[in-house]
Amino acid sequence: MKKTLYKLVFVAILALATVAPIATFATYYTTTQAEEYANLETEILQTLDADKMYSNIKFLSKTPRVAGTKQEDAAVKYINKQFESFGYKTEIQTFTYNDYTIPHTIQLAIDGFPQSLTPLAFEYSANGNVSSEVVPAGLGKVNEMKSLDLEGKIALLQRGEISFVEKLSNVTAKGAVGVIIYNNTADKILGSLGAENEADIPAVLLTQAEGKALMAHLQKHPDAKASLKIKGAKTGNNTSHNVIATKKPTIKKNSTKDILVISSHHDSVAKAPGANDNASGTAMTLELARVLKDIPTDTEIRFVTFGAEEVGLIGSTHYVENLSKNEVNRIVANFNLDMVGSKDAGELILQTVDEKPNLVTDLAQEASKKLNGEPTPYNQGDRSDHVPFANAGIPAALFIHNPPEPWYHTADDSIDKISKSKLQDVAEIVSVSIWNQIQIDTKKK
Ligand code: BES
Ligand code: ZN
Repeated sequence: MKKTLYKLVFVAILALATVAPIATFATYYTTTQAEEYANLETEILQTLDADKMYSNIKFLSKTPRVAGTKQEDAAVKYINKQFESFGYKTEIQTFTYNDYTIPHTIQLAIDGFPQSLTPLAFEYSANGNVSSEVVPAGLGKVNEMKSLDLEGKIALLQRGEISFVEKLSNVTAKGAVGVIIYNNTADKILGSLGAENEADIPAVLLTQAEGKALMAHLQKHPDAKASLKIKGAKTGNNTSHNVIATKKPTIKKNSTKDILVISSHHDSVAKAPGANDNASGTAMTLELARVLKDIPTDTEIRFVTFGAEEVGLIGSTHYVENLSKNEVNRIVANFNLDMVGSKDAGELILQTVDEKPNLVTDLAQEASKKLNGEPTPYNQGDRSDHVPFANAGIPAALFIHNPPEPWYHTADDSIDKISKSKLQDVAEIVSVSIWNQIQIDTKKK
């Protein structure tokens, strides 16, 4: 029954009563309602089980779970089975994306050049094995190169003004067979062509110092030849999956149209067991789903684990892009859990893309104040799956420990570094936040 209905009944009775029973009735009513909710909150907190999260992390982190591999598939099956075992309807959302495999061989040698070079292949560079004269061609802009003969040559360019892809396309149009681009600042950069492209020539990046030394060498030896080799690079289609479990509002009549999305990514980087990044968030998503299964809610809750986060937030981007307008409008919050259980990381922090508070940070701060006496701080961060939600205008925040552990993205991100008390702490904050939002008859902002 609706709270307002109770109220009407009481008001009617109270109108006929004396002052003393008023107090009795009023007190009776408020305590039962409040008590029921307090009991449910206690039940949620008591049901949360760090051992369950720990054993799921242990299971998932037996191997790396790189997107598109058999190991990711196995993790997806496992997660889906777990959701089903709690009684959820699930969906495995499969998607394909273009991926670049980095080359195993990158070589650059220049005739007579005294020092060794550290060429980096551009991401999305083609393979190739060429040997030819090196021609300095400035920034690689069309106008600068009008009188240059690049046919069959390797172009040497400086970074800047136009994109790497434009530089490549301009020199290939003039017949170059390879390209060397050197940095225009002392920073270290990982050059990328952004996506699969038309240029079919090997492209490498040198540091600013190397580029300057090479320019000086070519002034003295204009006929110097270079051999440039890139082998093993691959651009191709990959397939990954999101796993989605849905809890519909329990009482249709009193429900809102709101949707909450609790998310985490289940994939890892290569060679890393990814216990903390992000079997921890995945196990917590599963645990929240287990604990909330039979809790009454006026709000739809979706538990989602994303694939291909580590290759560019691909799974979450796919998920958000495939929501209907109506769904985007109805999703009031995304709680994204990524790296939530390391012994060796710092304190819990909430990160939003725009550095501003939102419904998720408000709920989490209220919950953490109640549970631990202090609101969890927040700052700016855009390195995980909350980003596509935020970009779609949905209040979203990342739950993460800051600073990250030294084992982040390494082979040492293993189960022995996981802290049950950290898991418990974050899961409590998230579950109380969710509970505060899904209570039947609570006022929604
Ligand atoms: N869990 C990390 C993000 C992270 C790590 C945030 C440390 C804050 C501190 C995530 O899985 C990751 O590695 N993200 C990538 C970016 C993504 C767009 C490929 C990253 O940060 O390099
Ligand atoms: Zn991560």
